[in-house]
Amino acid sequence: MVAKYYAKISGTGRYLPDKILNNHDLEKIVDTSDEWIKQRTGMWERHIASEDQASSDLAYNAAIKAIKAANLRTKDIDMIVVATISPDHPFPSTACILMKKLGLKNIPAFDLSAGCTGWIYAMDMARQYIENGIAKNVLTIGVEIVSKITNWKDRNTCVLFGDGAGAAIVSRAETKDISRIIDSEITADGTYYEYLIQPAGGSRNPASTNTIKENKHTVEMQGNKIFKLAIKSMYNACETVLKRNDLDVKSIHWLITHQANLRIIEALGKKLKIDSNKVIVNIEKYANTSSATIPIALDEAIRARKIRSGDLVLMASFGAGLTSGSILIRV
Ligand code: ACO
Repeated sequence: MVAKYYAKISGTGRYLPDKILNNHDLEKIVDTSDEWIKQRTGMWERHIASEDQASSDLAYNAAIKAIKAANLRTKDIDMIVVATISPDHPFPSTACILMKKLGLKNIPAFDLSAGCTGWIYAMDMARQYIENGIAKNVLTIGVEIVSKITNWKDRNTCVLFGDGAGAAIVSRAETKDISRIIDSEITADGTYYEYLIQPAGGSRNPASTNTIKENKHTVEMQGNKIFKLAIKSMYNACETVLKRNDLDVKSIHWLITHQANLRIIEALGKKLKIDSNKVIVNIEKYANTSSATIPIALDEAIRARKIRSGDLVLMASFGAGLTSGSILIRV
């Protein structure tokens, strides 16, 4: 379909809960060390939500900042897409709860589940709704409280995740705007769905005394099997949009990848042959906030005036599913 309009990011926001858990704190919980975590992942600390915070609370704080940055009123939002694997409840959607908090009604609002690639999926969807003229200002959110679905006895996973929310408003671009979403690409390969899974709580393994006893409501991951697939799938997603737009990687000002492991980020940068100064990394502060890593990093870099108007930014992610995707924007 030929696009009727162009889409752009008109504002971003982020929210990180106050509590910080560093690697030394984790040494007291499981058999791990600050040295192992830093060397193997690049993570130093992560933010953890309080007992009374749910994903919609984090999402709300990020959304308010994004709406303000876009110079919009809340009532200008005409669609909400929340990407999360840690919703407030299995149903209704966190998007509908967020909608109530924002005082909005009678617009589409839904969650999507695409693991850590969720926000890229949400952006791809928002872009289509803007380009075909159905929506004018779509609120997209990547939000997670993985700490509440973490097995705090499993050192293979509990050191890796953090909580947080990132938001971006996708708006219809005016003809005079240089800012726009140039392209996006999303895909998935279900062959490996078991590599990263929350095994119980759904219709396959409904909640029972046994599922709780066996800790089946928490994240299970075969990290080393995902490692190589992560680099390959993000590389492919980046190459696809670069080729489709006849762009050399040299023309990209910034690369923001999913923050799951510093070694993955560095290996991808090398494979893409992009200057390492152009690769945005914040994994040391927030660890892996799943669907929130990229919108958090994007907001942080824009507010720090590192990313500036006119810059070409390539973003790529992968995650549970296994899903992967990329998005190319001019800020
Ligand atoms: N502290 C100390 N030792 C540990 C820890 C820890 N926290 N975790 C694992 N180890 C040990 C293992 O037990 C193992 O010991 P052994 O050799 O005695 O058996 C050793 O370290 C090596 O384990 P590996 O799993 O091979 O370690 P690896 O170098 O692969 O690092 C990691 C593990 C960090 C998980 C890495 O594989 C990774 O980052 N994978 C990708 C994860 C990912 O990207 N997931 C998808 C995104 S998340 C989403 O979608 C929600």
